[in-house]
Amino acid sequence: MLRMVDVIEKKRNGDVLTKEEITFFIKGYTAGTIPDYQVSALLMTIFFKGMTAEEQAHLTMAMVESGDQIDLSAIDGVKVDKHSTGGVGDTTTLILVPLVAACGVPVAKMSGRGLGHTGGTLDKLEAMEGFHIELTKEQFVKQVNDLKLAVIGQSGNLTPADQKIYALRDVTATVDSIPLIASSIMSKKIAAGADAIVLDVKSGDGAFMKTLEDSKALAESMVAIGNKVGRNTMAIISDMSQPLGNAIGNSLEVVEAIETLKGNGPKDLTELCLVLGSQMVVLGKKAETLEEARTMLENVIKDGSALKLFGELIESQGGNKEVINDLTLLPKATYEIPVLARQSGYITGMNADDIGISAMLLGAGRATKEDEIDLAVGIVLTKKIGDTVEEGEAIAIIHANTEDVEQSAELLHEHIFIGETRVEPPVLVGEVITG
Ligand code: URA
Ligand code: CA
Repeated sequence: MLRMVDVIEKKRNGDVLTKEEITFFIKGYTAGTIPDYQVSALLMTIFFKGMTAEEQAHLTMAMVESGDQIDLSAIDGVKVDKHSTGGVGDTTTLILVPLVAACGVPVAKMSGRGLGHTGGTLDKLEAMEGFHIELTKEQFVKQVNDLKLAVIGQSGNLTPADQKIYALRDVTATVDSIPLIASSIMSKKIAAGADAIVLDVKSGDGAFMKTLEDSKALAESMVAIGNKVGRNTMAIISDMSQPLGNAIGNSLEVVEAIETLKGNGPKDLTELCLVLGSQMVVLGKKAETLEEARTMLENVIKDGSALKLFGELIESQGGNKEVINDLTLLPKATYEIPVLARQSGYITGMNADDIGISAMLLGAGRATKEDEIDLAVGIVLTKKIGDTVEEGEAIAIIHANTEDVEQSAELLHEHIFIGETRVEPPVLVGEVITG
């Protein structure tokens, strides 16, 4: 008979846990037969001793099997999902869903709201009046088979073990353990039914992982897990030392997504979508090479088919597809207040995290689950790292529903740095990690 105390001792001694031992602990904790204090002790030993790729794969699958799994087998083709470890103003999902679908890859996307500087993908989509994210399983499958794309909210009881463990990690100082983060993220993607997974691991001030080294280790762990459990998985490391694109805010990011689908998006955001999209198209077996995939993506932007498909997604889920031609249909804040540079020079750096907080203070994001989001508000950066700036020129525009934006404006002044020597813009896409 397995005993939890022996499992803890084994890991404490630096030994490798078996599949049976890992499954025992996850099953017992989910069922409530293993108490928090024993799981806390095991989590802390994992924090210090780490886990092999094999152990991480077992942990991931045990968490997947702790709850419902979405069966997407009724959808034709390879279902490719994308996951970003989260950053500031990351509008990529809104763009990638129609972009990749327009190349023939079925996108059955389950998205979240979450806490953060702005809302999640669902909040952004709901900035379009009438758009609803509740589809039955049958509607979801039918829409992806008919249109190639659908986005829904999370339903069912996915990875309850991860939920319970995450809550415990939060209060036991064991969140920032790479094996635990990697298995947590991968369990959710796998339970949501993905055949193949593209990971965008952010690195920098605005990211969960602040250093390149940690981002790379996390990416390698997740890619190893995915490939061990039969899901074709790859990762890229992308820069989050400044917000992605220019817009940070829900409705503002929908505008930015539509502009990008028209080929007029910010350079960094467009490039990241092309890089991630190419990987998705190759994993979805619609192109042989990344170069071929990239050309396909550029073509569906140029010929308008990606934008048209975004319109069809909106219409099919209850919104007004005219929004793709008429951006005034989106919620708009009452005030647009420029933040003016206090000196001339070059933008030498930013604290992406604090810029996100500035947007959150305006009401663009939630601090607690109960908070209401103001979909119209946010920030549009008018300068990025490496740009020149004149004293009195706008570095950002605040979109607010109050004139009192001093706190947000001050955060922007403090965290967008102006210096005398020009610096190169950060490298957007770093290493690509494949299995
Ligand atoms: N995000 C997750 O989903 N899990 C973690 O453990 C950390 C970040
Ligand atoms: Ca953005």
